[in-house]
Amino acid sequence: MKAVVFHGIGDIRLDKVHDPKLKDPTDAIVRLTANAICGTDLHMIRGTFPGMEPGTILGHESARTSATSTSATASSSPPPSPAARARNCRAGYSSQCDEANPNGKDAGTAFFGGPKPSGPFQGLQAEYARVPFAHADLVELPPEVSDDQAILISDIFPSAYFGANIANIQPGETVAVFGCGPVGQFAIASAHLLGAGRILAIDTVASRLAMARAQGAEVIDFNEEDPVEATRRLTNKIGVDRAIDAVGVDAVAPHQGPAAKVAKLEAKQHEQEVQEVAPKTNPDGVNWIPGDAPSQVLSWAVQGLAKAGTLSIIGVYPETARFFPIGIAMNKNLTLRMGNCPHRKYLPKLVGMVRSGLIDPLKILTQREPLTDVIAAYKAFDTRQPGWIKVELQPAS
Ligand SMILES: NC(=O)c1ccc[n+]([C@@H]2O[C@H](COP(=O)([O-])OP(=O)(O)OC[C@H]3O[C@@H](n4cnc5c(N)ncnc54)[C@H](O)[C@@H]3O)[C@@H](O)[C@H]2O)c1
Repeated sequence: MKAVVFHGIGDIRLDKVHDPKLKDPTDAIVRLTANAICGTDLHMIRGTFPGMEPGTILGHESARTSATSTSATASSSPPPSPAARARNCRAGYSSQCDEANPNGKDAGTAFFGGPKPSGPFQGLQAEYARVPFAHADLVELPPEVSDDQAILISDIFPSAYFGANIANIQPGETVAVFGCGPVGQFAIASAHLLGAGRILAIDTVASRLAMARAQGAEVIDFNEEDPVEATRRLTNKIGVDRAIDAVGVDAVAPHQGPAAKVAKLEAKQHEQEVQEVAPKTNPDGVNWIPGDAPSQVLSWAVQGLAKAGTLSIIGVYPETARFFPIGIAMNKNLTLRMGNCPHRKYLPKLVGMVRSGLIDPLKILTQREPLTDVIAAYKAFDTRQPGWIKVELQPAS
């Protein structure tokens, strides 16, 4: 089959690889009808989410049809699911499942197509995939939900909804969403669903800011305005009630406008942060360049929050990241919540929302590309080309 394979930092290829095989009784092999590129994949290729093994198939967002299962998975009494046995799953944290992670209890979130220390499974940017714990993991889609909608519900919508949920947004509150990539767009949509009164959206890419504005957010271009000053000005110097970091480790510093002056003073510290999180990088022209200010969003969010506000961090940081403005956060009585989304907890609810027409996730999907054009698609998404917000890959075309 064809699959997108990680060969090294800055080096991904569309390869012919062996079809996946069943290993455990609770596995299924599924044919993937649609998959997508995520900002998390970019961190891995840029080297800012290190530990990737060459040969790993990338990708963790997909819609699937026609599972060919072993007789065990098809049997009416499958073995107890991890959800039934494991403490973290019972608490709703399926993304911290102790049983499912091949690296054991000390590892964090097991990723499809993730770095070795995370406890990865082969990824989903392929024609077929092995899905472990299929009886607990796969979610049946009603006919009203299309494959295009399903890929958006497979990761980024639940991740953003999780981010808005743990931010503890109360009706009428003001929420700042940092990053207007696909996850940030769904964070805006989710904040609306949870009753936010105002949403301030921060980024610098014009087409992404335009989409945020079309969703009803007030937008701040960090190369034109200082986001901390702007949030204070727009909230009568109080600050925002809740902030969501939908950027992560590849945050960039402003290079013009009033915020650039402050960023210049912090350039040395940012440089050191990049060294720590990405000791090895491999840029190729304009592609695969790590962000130059990993802590930028954390710093802006903590400064822009009202006292006793909440910061929800869903942007991904590697375990090697050690920078956080703890002093300001502590002295403002902030609440910090964060993590990898426990998708299984949110999927049925979001499938229901899409099925009923409460929200149509397709408004965020901007590109549909054949899997055969995947490298060009990755490069355009990596450089945030105008209009390239969410990219679907179609294995069959
Ligand atoms: N926690 C989870 O479960 C989960 C799930 C999916 C994705 N993610 C993470 O969410 C983040 C966003 O994903 P995406 O697909 O939208 O990525 P993306 O790279 O497409 O979007 C990131 C956006 O942040 C903007 N940005 C960069 N520096 C900024 C700054 N200083 N201030 C404000 N905006 C800035 C960029 O211009 C870009 O538009 C990534 O870190 C990804 O790994 C987390």
